[in-house]
Amino acid sequence: MIQTRFQTPLYPAPAQPTPTPVAEWLGRVRLMVKSRRFEHILRVAALARQIAHANAIDADRAYLAGLLHDIARDLPDAELLRLAPPETPVDQAHPLALHGRAARTLLERWGCCDLVVLEAVEDHTTGPRSGSPVAACVYIADVSEPGRGVNENIRELAMVDLEGALAQAISSKVQYLRARGIPVHPRTLEAYRGLQRRGALPPEQPLTQALMSQGSVLQTGQLQTGQLQTTKLQAGQRRGDQTRSGSV
Ligand SMILES: [Fe+2]
Repeated sequence: MIQTRFQTPLYPAPAQPTPTPVAEWLGRVRLMVKSRRFEHILRVAALARQIAHANAIDADRAYLAGLLHDIARDLPDAELLRLAPPETPVDQAHPLALHGRAARTLLERWGCCDLVVLEAVEDHTTGPRSGSPVAACVYIADVSEPGRGVNENIRELAMVDLEGALAQAISSKVQYLRARGIPVHPRTLEAYRGLQRRGALPPEQPLTQALMSQGSVLQTGQLQTGQLQTTKLQAGQRRGDQTRSGSV
Protein backbone atom coordinates (compact mmCIF):
# COMPACT_ATOMS: atom_id res chain seq x y z
CA MET A 1 0.00 0.00 0.00
CA ILE A 2 1.37 3.43 -0.82
CA GLN A 3 0.77 6.54 1.19
CA THR A 4 0.14 10.13 0.23
CA ARG A 5 2.06 12.91 1.86
CA PHE A 6 -0.88 13.12 4.25
CA GLN A 7 -0.42 9.47 5.14
CA THR A 8 -3.76 8.56 3.71
CA PRO A 9 -3.97 5.08 2.20
CA LEU A 10 -4.41 5.40 -1.54
CA TYR A 11 -6.49 2.34 -2.23
CA PRO A 12 -7.14 0.26 0.80
CA ALA A 13 -10.76 -0.54 0.24
CA PRO A 14 -12.42 -3.05 -2.05
CA ALA A 15 -15.07 -1.91 -4.48
CA GLN A 16 -18.00 -0.32 -2.77
CA PRO A 17 -21.46 -1.48 -3.73
CA THR A 18 -23.00 1.99 -3.72
CA PRO A 19 -22.07 5.03 -5.82
CA THR A 20 -19.52 7.30 -4.20
CA PRO A 21 -20.76 10.88 -3.68
CA VAL A 22 -19.04 13.52 -5.74
CA ALA A 23 -17.94 15.32 -2.58
CA GLU A 24 -16.05 12.23 -1.48
CA TRP A 25 -14.31 11.94 -4.83
CA LEU A 26 -13.41 15.59 -4.59
CA GLY A 27 -11.75 15.00 -1.24
CA ARG A 28 -9.74 12.09 -2.57
CA VAL A 29 -8.61 14.02 -5.62
CA ARG A 30 -7.46 16.91 -3.43
CA LEU A 31 -5.26 14.53 -1.46
CA MET A 32 -3.78 12.90 -4.55
CA VAL A 33 -2.52 15.90 -6.51
CA LYS A 34 -0.57 19.10 -6.11
CA SER A 35 -2.47 22.32 -5.61
CA ARG A 36 -1.89 23.66 -9.13
CA ARG A 37 -3.03 20.35 -10.57
CA PHE A 38 -6.12 20.47 -8.42
CA GLU A 39 -6.99 23.88 -9.81
CA HIS A 40 -6.55 22.53 -13.35
CA ILE A 41 -8.76 19.57 -12.49
CA LEU A 42 -11.53 21.83 -11.21
CA ARG A 43 -11.40 23.88 -14.41
CA VAL A 44 -11.49 20.75 -16.57
CA ALA A 45 -14.45 19.35 -14.67
CA ALA A 46 -16.37 22.59 -14.93
CA LEU A 47 -15.64 22.96 -18.63
CA ALA A 48 -16.46 19.32 -19.36
CA ARG A 49 -19.82 19.83 -17.70
CA GLN A 50 -20.41 23.01 -19.69
CA ILE A 51 -19.53 21.32 -22.98
CA ALA A 52 -21.73 18.35 -22.12
CA HIS A 53 -24.65 20.57 -21.25
CA ALA A 54 -24.28 22.50 -24.50
CA ASN A 55 -24.41 19.23 -26.44
CA ALA A 56 -27.26 17.60 -24.47
CA ILE A 57 -24.89 15.00 -22.98
CA ASP A 58 -24.86 13.63 -19.44
CA ALA A 59 -23.30 16.64 -17.72
CA ASP A 60 -22.98 14.98 -14.30
CA ARG A 61 -20.91 12.15 -15.76
CA ALA A 62 -18.76 14.59 -17.72
CA TYR A 63 -18.15 16.59 -14.54
CA LEU A 64 -17.22 13.51 -12.52
CA ALA A 65 -14.90 12.19 -15.22
CA GLY A 66 -13.26 15.61 -15.43
CA LEU A 67 -12.84 15.61 -11.67
CA LEU A 68 -11.14 12.22 -11.72
CA HIS A 69 -9.13 12.36 -14.92
CA ASP A 70 -5.78 13.40 -13.41
CA ILE A 71 -6.04 11.59 -10.12
CA ALA A 72 -2.90 9.58 -10.89
CA ARG A 73 -1.00 12.39 -12.57
CA ASP A 74 1.29 13.15 -9.63
CA LEU A 75 2.11 9.57 -8.65
CA PRO A 76 5.72 8.41 -8.96
CA ASP A 77 6.71 6.59 -12.12
CA ALA A 78 7.14 3.28 -10.33
CA GLU A 79 3.57 3.45 -9.08
CA LEU A 80 2.25 4.33 -12.53
CA LEU A 81 4.05 1.34 -13.99
CA ARG A 82 2.59 -0.90 -11.33
CA LEU A 83 -0.95 0.37 -11.79
CA ALA A 84 -0.79 0.38 -15.59
CA PRO A 85 1.64 -2.22 -16.93
CA PRO A 86 3.24 -0.90 -20.13
CA GLU A 87 1.74 -1.97 -23.43
CA THR A 88 4.66 -0.71 -25.50
CA PRO A 89 8.37 -0.12 -24.92
CA VAL A 90 7.66 3.58 -24.96
CA ASP A 91 5.12 3.26 -22.16
CA GLN A 92 7.97 1.75 -20.20
CA ALA A 93 10.28 4.60 -21.15
CA HIS A 94 7.71 7.34 -20.45
CA PRO A 95 5.57 6.16 -17.54
CA LEU A 96 3.80 9.48 -17.21
CA ALA A 97 1.92 8.62 -20.38
CA LEU A 98 0.28 5.87 -18.37
CA HIS A 99 -1.47 8.14 -15.90
CA GLY A 100 -4.85 7.79 -17.61
CA ARG A 101 -4.81 4.02 -17.44
CA ALA A 102 -3.38 4.14 -13.93
CA ALA A 103 -6.20 6.43 -12.86
CA ARG A 104 -8.74 3.93 -14.14
CA THR A 105 -7.09 1.15 -12.17
CA LEU A 106 -7.16 3.24 -9.01
CA LEU A 107 -10.77 4.22 -9.48
CA GLU A 108 -11.85 0.64 -10.07
CA ARG A 109 -10.12 -0.36 -6.85
CA TRP A 110 -11.94 2.44 -5.10
CA GLY A 111 -15.27 1.18 -6.30
CA CYS A 112 -16.02 3.32 -9.32
CA CYS A 113 -17.94 1.07 -11.68
CA ASP A 114 -19.30 3.64 -14.13
CA LEU A 115 -17.83 2.42 -17.39
CA VAL A 116 -18.50 5.71 -19.15
CA VAL A 117 -16.57 7.64 -16.54
CA LEU A 118 -13.78 5.07 -16.40
CA GLU A 119 -13.34 5.11 -20.16
CA ALA A 120 -13.22 8.90 -20.25
CA VAL A 121 -10.56 8.92 -17.55
CA GLU A 122 -8.46 6.22 -19.21
CA ASP A 123 -8.55 7.81 -22.65
CA HIS A 124 -7.93 11.41 -21.69
CA THR A 125 -4.20 11.14 -22.44
CA THR A 126 -4.40 9.51 -25.85
CA GLY A 127 -7.83 10.44 -27.13
CA PRO A 128 -11.31 8.91 -27.02
CA ARG A 129 -11.31 5.65 -28.98
CA SER A 130 -14.92 4.56 -28.83
CA GLY A 131 -16.74 7.72 -29.83
CA SER A 132 -18.01 8.25 -26.29
CA PRO A 133 -19.33 11.82 -26.08
CA VAL A 134 -18.49 12.04 -22.38
CA ALA A 135 -14.90 11.07 -23.15
CA ALA A 136 -14.86 13.71 -25.88
CA CYS A 137 -16.04 16.36 -23.41
CA VAL A 138 -13.26 15.51 -20.96
CA TYR A 139 -10.57 15.32 -23.63
CA ILE A 140 -11.51 18.67 -25.12
CA ALA A 141 -11.88 20.28 -21.71
CA ASP A 142 -8.43 19.03 -20.75
CA VAL A 143 -6.70 20.53 -23.78
CA SER A 144 -8.67 23.76 -23.85
CA GLU A 145 -9.47 24.77 -20.28
CA PRO A 146 -8.83 28.50 -19.86
CA GLY A 147 -5.83 28.01 -17.58
CA ARG A 148 -3.83 26.58 -20.47
CA GLY A 149 -4.14 29.80 -22.44
CA VAL A 150 -4.48 28.00 -25.78
CA ASN A 151 -7.06 26.22 -27.89
CA GLU A 152 -9.79 28.73 -27.29
CA ASN A 153 -11.09 27.97 -30.78
CA ILE A 154 -11.48 24.29 -29.88
CA ARG A 155 -13.25 25.21 -26.67
CA GLU A 156 -15.68 27.45 -28.50
CA LEU A 157 -16.27 24.95 -31.30
CA ALA A 158 -17.06 22.24 -28.76
CA MET A 159 -20.09 24.18 -27.60
CA VAL A 160 -21.75 23.78 -30.98
CA ASP A 161 -19.93 20.88 -32.65
CA LEU A 162 -18.43 18.37 -30.24
CA GLU A 163 -17.25 15.91 -32.87
CA GLY A 164 -15.76 18.71 -34.97
CA ALA A 165 -13.84 20.02 -31.97
CA LEU A 166 -12.56 16.55 -31.15
CA ALA A 167 -11.49 16.03 -34.74
CA GLN A 168 -9.59 19.30 -34.67
CA ALA A 169 -7.88 18.45 -31.41
CA ILE A 170 -6.86 14.93 -32.41
CA SER A 171 -5.77 15.80 -35.93
CA SER A 172 -3.72 18.73 -34.63
CA LYS A 173 -1.95 16.43 -32.24
CA VAL A 174 -1.24 13.80 -34.89
CA GLN A 175 0.04 16.34 -37.36
CA TYR A 176 2.12 18.06 -34.72
CA LEU A 177 3.81 14.85 -33.66
CA ARG A 178 4.33 13.67 -37.19
CA ALA A 179 5.84 17.00 -38.24
CA ARG A 180 8.41 16.61 -35.49
CA GLY A 181 9.13 13.01 -36.35
CA ILE A 182 7.68 11.82 -33.06
CA PRO A 183 5.79 8.56 -33.51
CA VAL A 184 2.13 8.66 -32.55
CA HIS A 185 0.81 6.43 -29.81
CA PRO A 186 -1.28 3.55 -31.19
CA ARG A 187 -4.22 4.57 -29.01
CA THR A 188 -4.13 8.07 -30.47
CA LEU A 189 -4.12 6.58 -33.95
CA GLU A 190 -7.11 4.50 -32.94
CA ALA A 191 -8.95 7.65 -31.92
CA TYR A 192 -7.89 9.34 -35.16
CA ARG A 193 -9.13 6.46 -37.30
CA GLY A 194 -12.37 6.35 -35.37
CA LEU A 195 -13.00 9.96 -36.34
CA GLN A 196 -12.24 9.04 -39.95
CA ARG A 197 -14.69 6.15 -39.85
CA ARG A 198 -17.37 8.43 -38.46
CA GLY A 199 -16.70 10.97 -41.20
CA ALA A 200 -15.44 13.68 -38.86
CA LEU A 201 -12.01 13.55 -40.53
CA PRO A 202 -11.19 12.91 -44.17
CA PRO A 203 -9.46 9.64 -45.06
CA GLU A 204 -6.19 11.44 -45.82
CA GLN A 205 -4.57 8.33 -47.18
CA PRO A 206 -1.03 9.66 -47.36
CA LEU A 207 -1.08 10.68 -43.70
CA THR A 208 -2.62 7.41 -42.59
CA GLN A 209 -0.21 5.35 -44.61
CA ALA A 210 2.71 7.33 -43.36
CA LEU A 211 1.62 6.82 -39.77
CA MET A 212 1.04 3.12 -40.27
CA SER A 213 4.44 2.72 -41.84
CA GLN A 214 5.96 3.65 -38.51
CA GLY A 215 4.91 0.29 -37.17
CA SER A 216 2.34 -1.01 -34.73
CA VAL A 217 4.33 -0.16 -31.63
CA LEU A 218 5.18 3.47 -31.75
CA GLN A 219 7.02 6.05 -29.77
CA THR A 220 4.82 7.95 -27.40
CA GLY A 221 4.81 11.60 -28.31
CA GLN A 222 5.04 13.60 -25.14
CA LEU A 223 3.02 16.45 -26.54
CA GLN A 224 2.10 19.22 -24.24
CA THR A 225 -1.65 19.42 -24.64
CA GLY A 226 -1.39 23.17 -24.52
CA GLN A 227 0.63 23.04 -27.70
CA LEU A 228 -2.13 21.92 -29.99
CA GLN A 229 -2.20 25.34 -31.50
CA THR A 230 1.44 26.15 -31.15
CA THR A 231 2.84 23.87 -33.79
CA LYS A 232 5.70 26.11 -34.75
CA LEU A 233 8.74 23.89 -34.86
CA GLN A 234 11.83 24.95 -33.01
CA ALA A 235 15.08 23.40 -34.04
CA GLY A 236 16.75 21.25 -31.47
CA GLN A 237 13.74 20.97 -29.22
CA ARG A 238 12.59 17.51 -30.20
CA ARG A 239 14.12 15.91 -27.16
CA GLY A 240 12.71 18.66 -25.06
CA ASP A 241 9.23 17.36 -25.84
CA GLN A 242 10.05 14.07 -24.20
CA THR A 243 9.58 15.59 -20.82
CA ARG A 244 7.06 15.39 -18.05
CA SER A 245 3.91 15.83 -20.05
CA GLY A 246 1.50 12.97 -19.81
CA SER A 247 -0.55 13.73 -22.90
CA VAL A 248 0.31 11.58 -25.84
FE1 LIG B 1 -3.87 13.98 -17.56
